[in-house]
Amino acid sequence: MPHRRQNPSPMSRPPFETPPSADGGETAALSPPRRIEARPDAGSLTQEQIKRTYGRYAPFYDQLFGAIYAHGRRRMAATLRSLTAQRVLEVGVGTGLTLDCYPASSRIVGIDLSVEMLARAQRRAAALGLRDVELHIMNGEATPFADASFDCITVPYVLSATPDPVRLVRELRRLCRPGGTIVILNHFSGSRFWWLLEKAAQPLSSKVGFRSDFHFEEHVARYDWEIQSVEPVNLFGLSRLVVIKNV
Ligand SMILES: C[S@@+](CC[C@H](N)C(=O)[O-])C[C@H]1O[C@@H](n2cnc3c(N)ncnc32)[C@H](O)[C@@H]1O
Repeated sequence: MPHRRQNPSPMSRPPFETPPSADGGETAALSPPRRIEARPDAGSLTQEQIKRTYGRYAPFYDQLFGAIYAHGRRRMAATLRSLTAQRVLEVGVGTGLTLDCYPASSRIVGIDLSVEMLARAQRRAAALGLRDVELHIMNGEATPFADASFDCITVPYVLSATPDPVRLVRELRRLCRPGGTIVILNHFSGSRFWWLLEKAAQPLSSKVGFRSDFHFEEHVARYDWEIQSVEPVNLFGLSRLVVIKNV
């Protein structure tokens, strides 16, 4: 794919239009999601735990999670090439392993809670010479962006790693324009091959930085959005690539 010119100060440029009253912290004006009860065993993760855990992972993240999740990222890239999204938000951009997935014509905003992860994404974007990429330290559950700011939002391996997945979905739906696309890449419970690992990791979510006990029905299927496709990806269907139309 053609390389983009490098953005001179991608972490400092204000992204798109922000609402005048944005406080960067609340999404109180949003309509509530359909009633979704949290599972008592869903595992709790705080922002602080995520920042700490991914801060520790950052130097080794690409070695630990680069190859194992690469197939899913490639499939996500193929999906993105088939869309004509101009304005794209990636939530949980991490070290930027997905940054070269996007069509050269798209304008990308990547956000992440972890300073250390994002610093690596910054270096990767510079090394790739990517233009039109902005990176910001930001919580995807409560952003300052205006409603319908993006044509497409990608959430690669983040939904089960965010403090409050219901709140994140509510924010994704606010930020994605009606008829736009939300692409979720994530592990969901129920695989015949991975159940033992899921069980072993279940009590450790705050240490490992994600929930292994995470259900598609509860976190994706129950919303009144339009699921367009669900594709098993990665080794033995470890993860699923879910393409959703925001309605
Ligand atoms: C498993 S990593 C995935 C990184 C990258 N997307 C990839 O494909 O490898 C999860 C990332 O999501 C970030 N994260 C978790 N919750 C977040 C939130 N609410 N807002 C922004 N970033 C978040 C973490 O800091 C971490 O960098």
